[in-house]
Amino acid sequence: MKWISVVGARPNFIKIAPFCRAVVDYNASKTGQLAPIEHLLVHTGQHYDDRMSKTFFTELNIPQADLNLNIGSGSHAEQVGKTMIAFEKVCLTQKPDLVIVVGDVNATAACSITAKKLGISVAHIEAGLRSGDRSMPEEINRLVTDSISDALMAPDEFAVENLLKEGHNPDSMQLSGNIMIDTLDRELAKVEALPLPNGLLPEKYVVITLHRPANVDCPEKLRALVDAIIAQADTGVQFFWPIHPRTKAKLEEFSLLSSLEASDITFAQPLGYHALLRLNLSAKAFLTDSGGLQEECCVLGTPCVTLRDNTERPVTLKEHGGTNVLSSIADLERNLQQALHSDRKPYRPKNWDGHTAPRMVDFLLEGNKAESLR
Ligand code: UD1
Repeated sequence: MKWISVVGARPNFIKIAPFCRAVVDYNASKTGQLAPIEHLLVHTGQHYDDRMSKTFFTELNIPQADLNLNIGSGSHAEQVGKTMIAFEKVCLTQKPDLVIVVGDVNATAACSITAKKLGISVAHIEAGLRSGDRSMPEEINRLVTDSISDALMAPDEFAVENLLKEGHNPDSMQLSGNIMIDTLDRELAKVEALPLPNGLLPEKYVVITLHRPANVDCPEKLRALVDAIIAQADTGVQFFWPIHPRTKAKLEEFSLLSSLEASDITFAQPLGYHALLRLNLSAKAFLTDSGGLQEECCVLGTPCVTLRDNTERPVTLKEHGGTNVLSSIADLERNLQQALHSDRKPYRPKNWDGHTAPRMVDFLLEGNKAESLR
């Protein structure tokens, strides 16, 4: 039985690490009884900088990708088109029984379409998330991927509900839990003793991460956001901002970098997994538009202000037991002040127990899904 897992961008790497390990563990536990799973890892190369890619493979002990499609940057159509052309060749040569795609990046949609058109079963890790906002490229990727996937592995009960509402067969889905939390649980002990960077003091800093096109691609929006953040930067806590390449490029293009550099905000290059997790353990709050950070903050109890109108991860919101609030730019000050005056309140939704990846492998092997779902 041959499986191909596909990764393309930073958040995928964090999710695939435990899955690769669970396949190895399955093979080790079944020696001599059943045929092992031959598992290949394909990196589409959407993220290619060491800081956006290689660091994560090293830190999380992800096996080196068997194939790299070297797609690189480009418009969405370019990235998706190039990925499909290259991945079709991989599928034709390798003839996998199952293709596993992760999350909501361009690689996820491109490779699920390619595999499905070749009659290969597709399994989606992180199925069923919906922001309801079709202006988000990620939402289109989610909708397309789930609509054609044979096995839908959902992180939470909201996601299961979305899939049922869309008419998916309950037998094709599993409430798997959140695979990112497998990684968090495994790596936590390695980072607890790490020092904080840049003289940051525990519970005295806010971490900023922003990269969504809706926040950073429009000059007026990004200017308003930068002004609002600078206005909050002297509230007695340090602001620490590891800048995503997309955001850095846009700040330069819109001539916004100099006013930020003149402020009290501390900047850094994109951080590795361990460094960001260490920061999360002692941060007073996060100011973000990331999907994964909403979830990590929820589990660690860190107050999180999400600069978006909606979230595909409602399970992390305060009204559902988490630590996350959505915020407009206009409400940033109020929401940030509330976060700064909140205590840590860790919350784990159902099956966010660190054992999601083996649960997924068992689910995929049940009745040999790769064959029967075709
Ligand atoms: C992608 C994902 C998003 C995910 C994010 C995590 C899609 C549609 N979006 O957005 O869901 O949350 O990754 O980071 O797939 N760049 C580099 N080095 C790199 C990668 C990118 O410099 O290693 C630059 C390029 O100039 C590129 C820009 O960053 O144009 C944005 O990269 P892109 O591939 O468009 O995706 P992200 O915005 O990172």
